[in-house]
Amino acid sequence: MNSFVIEPATPDDVESIAALLAPNVIKQSVLPRSSSDILEHIGNFRVARVGDRLAGCVALRDFGGGLFEVRSLVVEDDYSGCGLGSALVKNVLSLAVERGGIEVFTLTIRPRLFTRLGFEEVPMESFHRDDKYHEKIWSDCRLCPKIDCCDEIALRIRVG
Ligand SMILES: CC(C)(COP(=O)(O)OP(=O)(O)OC[C@H]1O[C@@H](n2cnc3c(N)ncnc32)[C@H](O)[C@@H]1OP(=O)(O)O)[C@@H](O)C(=O)NCCC(=O)NCCS
Repeated sequence: MNSFVIEPATPDDVESIAALLAPNVIKQSVLPRSSSDILEHIGNFRVARVGDRLAGCVALRDFGGGLFEVRSLVVEDDYSGCGLGSALVKNVLSLAVERGGIEVFTLTIRPRLFTRLGFEEVPMESFHRDDKYHEKIWSDCRLCPKIDCCDEIALRIRVG
């Protein structure tokens, strides 16, 4: 594979990001994001480019108080297993540090990718009980189609 670069997304990437997310929304691997939502939060997205092709994306959400979430992580099938996913996560961990992050969490069906980078599992019961994650649960989990059959694993890493 040609080498890849990870860089901040630009407004020109919005439709490519939406197209990358779409099949994974159908598979319920990531939450839906409209083009206007992506554009509004474009400064929180990082993309992986191989030549001029957008091969992956990830976003960081700021919950305040030093708490951040890694979300909207997708790598195109053609490029899977080449380290792009891990590189995207590492990149937004650095971004969280730059933005004053103390803890970064994620909900995922791919826990090994995160544990390899130092994340530790939070038992789902504790995740739901901890007030710190209340806004995440209120804003996303509440509306998620998997609310009654959640197969995701909560993980977190201290960065500050
Ligand atoms: C999950 C996803 C982003 C991974 O992207 P990727 O570019 O293939 O990720 P990587 O190449 O960094 O890692 C993929 C695999 O390569 C291997 N690998 C990568 N780095 C490795 C390392 N240092 N040591 C050993 N194995 C490694 C592992 O098998 C790894 O799979 P695992 O993380 O389940 O163990 C991608 O498969 C995807 O878009 N899936 C659909 C959407 C989705 O599930 N998103 C995640 C929601 S949080």
